[in-house]
Amino acid sequence: MATREPIGVVGTGYVGLVTAAGFAELGNEVWCIDIDAEKIERLRRGEIPIYEPGLADLVQKHRGRLHFSTDIADALEHARLLFVAVGTPPTYSGDPDLSAVRAVVASMPASDHHALIMKSTVPVGTGASIKRFFAEQGKGDFRYVSCPEFLKEGAAIEDFLSPDRVVVGDDGDWAGDAVVELYSPLEAPLVRTDIASAEMVKLAANAFLATKISFINEIANVCEETGADVIEVARGMGLDDRIGPKFLQAGIGFGGSCFPKDVLGLKQLAGNSGYHFQLLNAVIEVNELQKRRVISKLQKHLGTLIGKRIALLGLAFKPNTDDMREASSLVLSARLQADGATVVAYDPVADEEAAKLLPGVTLASDALAAVDGADAVVLVTEWQEFRDLDWSAVADGMGGTVLIDGRNALDPAAVRAAGLTYEGIGRG
Ligand code: UDX
Repeated sequence: MATREPIGVVGTGYVGLVTAAGFAELGNEVWCIDIDAEKIERLRRGEIPIYEPGLADLVQKHRGRLHFSTDIADALEHARLLFVAVGTPPTYSGDPDLSAVRAVVASMPASDHHALIMKSTVPVGTGASIKRFFAEQGKGDFRYVSCPEFLKEGAAIEDFLSPDRVVVGDDGDWAGDAVVELYSPLEAPLVRTDIASAEMVKLAANAFLATKISFINEIANVCEETGADVIEVARGMGLDDRIGPKFLQAGIGFGGSCFPKDVLGLKQLAGNSGYHFQLLNAVIEVNELQKRRVISKLQKHLGTLIGKRIALLGLAFKPNTDDMREASSLVLSARLQADGATVVAYDPVADEEAAKLLPGVTLASDALAAVDGADAVVLVTEWQEFRDLDWSAVADGMGGTVLIDGRNALDPAAVRAAGLTYEGIGRG
């Protein structure tokens, strides 16, 4: 293998750790930096602070190549390319909070042989403003590259190692060339472009995928009124290769750290520049309503929810992660409690996170314990272990018979054979 250049990664969250472990797998030495000293200590001991399949093994495998520090100078000393993977959470205005990005930028020295490679999702124009800042500070030779991250939680390692594409936005200098070279072993299609376009690719891709989900959710809602089955409809639509079968699963809404934030971020970015992005308003509103439609489904079967015991199966925003950010379970459990229901929930992994975020919800130790005595069960997150549940045992344990499949993940015939009343999303 040709010599691989050492790199720095600032921020050891989902994106930072996966990027670090992925490049270590490709043979790079990686200096991982985080301001959280406790996190860095844990990482040095080999503890991974997040749940992501395969990540712990990969970090363990490459312990010799992965260096952890709280001092950004360690990265600057060993590497010329510094990947920035710090959080950019949404603020009340819907604009992302760029304070962590700005802190990294402000700590950079004047240098003609270093570059920041932006992995964090930032508004279009951020690269230009950082370059302006560098120029004003007399650090105009510091290079800047936008290299947005498209990984999906739960499949992040796989996404890093076989990406659909790599996007590199730069000024056509050594830093862009170096980033292209870093990714070359992956043999992925490369989109090399200007910085603003690279920034927009990320926002537009996420907004488009979110639009696809809200679209199929609205189709599902119309299916419910008209007797069609959205699963059949999506199958028929998805075979048109201009549409494609992915992201056409109707359910109780999208969540996570990216879609809600990026759709809102793009809407606000457009608004800040004077353009009213109407379509995105609808995408957001449909998603909000979709989480709440479960309530009326439950009321249809149970009447008032006061005093009713509702079991939620799954709490994470999707399977194979412990991430609860913008999870549909947050809105659903709060709405149920507001209507007077008692909420019991179980998630195979997210219970620690859930305990902090779901006040008043009883967390059960397994699925059967959660459904015990429940008037209704709602499948919120389609973990495999719920697909494999023994529905007769569920029916025996429940007090009532209603099962709402919020992800259309179950076999209605098997559920009904157990004596339960099955209702999915958009299934006639
Ligand atoms: C997403 C993008 O896919 C990724 O490219 C980007 O880098 C970050 O945001 P992630 O948030 O990990 O990744 O989750 P993803 O698997 O895309 O799912 C997002 C949400 O959409 C989940 O809540 C999921 O349940 C929901 N979803 C997805 C649907 O409701 N229907 C679908 O058909 C697909």
